[in-house]
Amino acid sequence: MKTKVAIIGAGPSGLLLGQLLHKAGIDNVIIERQSPDYILSRIRAGVLEQGMVDLLREVGVNERMDREGIVHGGFELAFSGRRERVDLEELTGGKSVMIYGQTEVTKDLMDARQDSGQLSFYGVPDATLHDLKSDKPTVTFTHNGEQVLLECDYIAGCDGYHGVTRKSIPDDAIKSFERVYPFGWLGVLADTPPVSEELIYAKHERGFALCSMRSPTRTRYYVQVSLDEKVEDWSDERFWEELKYRLPVDTANKLVTGPSIEKSIAPLRSFVVEPMQYGRLFLVGDAAHIVPPTGAKGLNLAASDVSTLSRILDKVYHEGRTDLLARYSEVCLRRIWKAERFSWWMTSVLHRFPESDEFSQRIQDTELDYFVGSRAGRTTIAENYVGLPYESIE
Ligand code: APR
Ligand code: PHB
Repeated sequence: MKTKVAIIGAGPSGLLLGQLLHKAGIDNVIIERQSPDYILSRIRAGVLEQGMVDLLREVGVNERMDREGIVHGGFELAFSGRRERVDLEELTGGKSVMIYGQTEVTKDLMDARQDSGQLSFYGVPDATLHDLKSDKPTVTFTHNGEQVLLECDYIAGCDGYHGVTRKSIPDDAIKSFERVYPFGWLGVLADTPPVSEELIYAKHERGFALCSMRSPTRTRYYVQVSLDEKVEDWSDERFWEELKYRLPVDTANKLVTGPSIEKSIAPLRSFVVEPMQYGRLFLVGDAAHIVPPTGAKGLNLAASDVSTLSRILDKVYHEGRTDLLARYSEVCLRRIWKAERFSWWMTSVLHRFPESDEFSQRIQDTELDYFVGSRAGRTTIAENYVGLPYESIE
């Protein structure tokens, strides 16, 4: 079997890349380890930057997002008994974010993939990459008990942090940068009305809390927990009580609680691999980098990698610009490191660190006070939150 681009992984990165390439007339095959149902059962973040919204519109996967998504022109920071709104629209010249769950984005992209007629293999346990440094790389895998050999021009590693593609690069050809945070987020999804019209990021002496939403009737809340916490020890009652405790009193009084539909604990990590390419393999999204969720940058960074790779491949196939391939990593990493910095900063100022002494806590509060107290500071937060511009590939 032959294709132009083999895409490993059918998360948002792989599916969005597949659609952009398809629109550009570039055939591609997606190979995914899990089943579609499994992928659609994963609950992830739900804040889309304008760049991601534009890409979904470009591939025509915007009908439901434009109907059901909620545009947010601001969010709140709660700390030291204060509630401070960051007015995204006013501070960025009219920019905003779209509230629309990653699970919904993935579902819409999967439907579009089906309509596109491009081939996808799900339930593949053993995708293996070969000859990455040659001009004829291949992927071998088992599907329904049959051995398949896929020949291609390029391979896109869209298989997330735990995937096989990054691991196919020799250790001495890449370098990784990592920060593991000493806490996690316990998240609850519930069919309750949001406590506030906009997201609230709350710093409290017992730890961070976040009020988010998926729709006018579905909410997503988080509380910071220590790494040894077990989800089984958190009844719904205990979760709601802890959340209320960490929110400003007026907000806590308005909180509508209800049975959880999903409850899970996620660790927080910053991770970047350099370079993001090896021969004809290009790493995309979580396969190449992870951000802690404070700031909602994970999905949006994946989207900017996808945009960069698809723009480069478009020029390779339609203008013969193979010289641009060597620039992929450098173009992506400039934007990635800025989002890494912002996610790290949001995490650093809003969480309770176990080793933090009283001096560090005063500095943390002062950092927030200083940033929200100055227009320059609020603008910095706002322009990062709505998403920095995509880099040019030339
Ligand atoms: N072979 C094939 N597919 C694989 C393999 C493998 N060896 N390993 C992992 N996969 C699949 C996973 O099952 C998953 O469906 O690759 C996909 C990767 O999807 P994600 O982890 O969602 O990563 P990505 O598409 O880059 O999405 C960006 O942004 O906010 C973050 O974590 C969030 O998923 C989100 C990400
Ligand atoms: C979410 O809705 O799940 C969410 C929103 C904002 C974040 C992280 C997660 O920063």
